[in-house]
Amino acid sequence: MAATILLVGSTDRQLEEALRACGMTAPSAPGAELAALAQPGAKQPDVLVLDLQHQTHLPAALPLLKRQHPGTGVILVTPRLDPAMLLEAMRSGITEVVSNVTEDDLRAAIDRLLALRPSTASSGKTYAFVGAKGGVDATTVAVNVATALARIEPGSTLLIDLHLANGDAAVFLGAEPRFSIVDALENIHRLDESFFKSLIARSKAGVDILASSDRVMLTSVDVRRIRTVLEFAEKQYRFIVLDVPRADTAVLDGLESCAKVVVVANQELATVRSASRIASALRQRYGKDRVSVVLSRADRLADIGHEDVERAVGTSVKHSFPSDYRRALNALNKGVPVTVENHNELAGSLISFAKSLAGVEGQAKEKKPASRFSLFGSKKGSSEESRS
Ligand SMILES: Nc1ncnc2c1ncn2[C@@H]1O[C@H](COP(=O)(O)OP(=O)(O)OP(=O)(O)O)[C@@H](O)[C@H]1O
Ligand SMILES: [Mg+2]
Repeated sequence: MAATILLVGSTDRQLEEALRACGMTAPSAPGAELAALAQPGAKQPDVLVLDLQHQTHLPAALPLLKRQHPGTGVILVTPRLDPAMLLEAMRSGITEVVSNVTEDDLRAAIDRLLALRPSTASSGKTYAFVGAKGGVDATTVAVNVATALARIEPGSTLLIDLHLANGDAAVFLGAEPRFSIVDALENIHRLDESFFKSLIARSKAGVDILASSDRVMLTSVDVRRIRTVLEFAEKQYRFIVLDVPRADTAVLDGLESCAKVVVVANQELATVRSASRIASALRQRYGKDRVSVVLSRADRLADIGHEDVERAVGTSVKHSFPSDYRRALNALNKGVPVTVENHNELAGSLISFAKSLAGVEGQAKEKKPASRFSLFGSKKGSSEESRS
């Protein structure tokens, strides 16, 4: 997207034409506009060009604007490089002053400001997993999808346990995080890269985790906070996997940015009924293309067949995972997800599901995580490395 350039407080045709040559499309705005731009929440241009050719002081609204909107690039146009004005500008965080109104000088200043602009593009893809009922293997699927994604690209994947209290995703990864999703939600105002990183633990399987809390959140969760945390995570990671509690409406309502919301079901009547209700509500909220259903412990001989499930949930069920209680339980007890290996049917089906979600089927073999991983050497509780 092209950068937006706004000229304020100018009647200089030459300046306006030079800026139009640099890509400015908006009409020049009167000087009084600066006070409105300085308001908290006012929509900002990428670059604000302030014509001070007939002024001897910085307008009072300018330091305020830079305080409220430090990301707005400002160019001062002034023929006199007055030291007092330059000092004032510098103290306000302004780095660009142009004394010759030429296209070349203006373009160079604009390019420097745009190069400094923090990237706000969110690039990560989020996949949410909701169990149709308790104990249907939703966490197992989420953790293993995250592990498989992390093996596609080491360091790429964050698992967020959105069970605000007493979720168990960290146990599945053998991690013992010191902080949790509740710390993120309670400190939204402090959310920057280093604070976010301090809340996250890295597991030996290569998955970063923002875990559930051992304590209950003091205030009720606000859907906007959930969205803010997810959007922030999407700027830091290529893949974000969510373990979602099916009974928390604020969490279910905060999944707007998700690429896919996956309902985990099995072939039991009560689960299929519940999957049908949950999938239908999620389709209404997020659209049918973003909602899918997968089957755990798939059984070809079950009374309720694969097609019965598809009819009940109103969509085709493209991925199912075999029943392998011993292997799943062993993995859980060791804190080592089954997808760390690919030598059994359960791991293979989960890995191929993860690849299809990420759209990387048929790509070159995934890279191993940087840390060496010993399936049998892993001691529960010792396999987590804090990244804080
Ligand atoms: N494919 C499978 N076959 C057999 N057992 C499995 C399979 N996947 C997971 N399990 C086992 O089922 C149990 C429940 O799994 P899990 O905790 O993932 O379910 P859940 O839906 O997240 O439960 P909850 O509602 O408590 O969050 C665990 O003991 C797990 O090891
Ligand atoms: Mg669970």
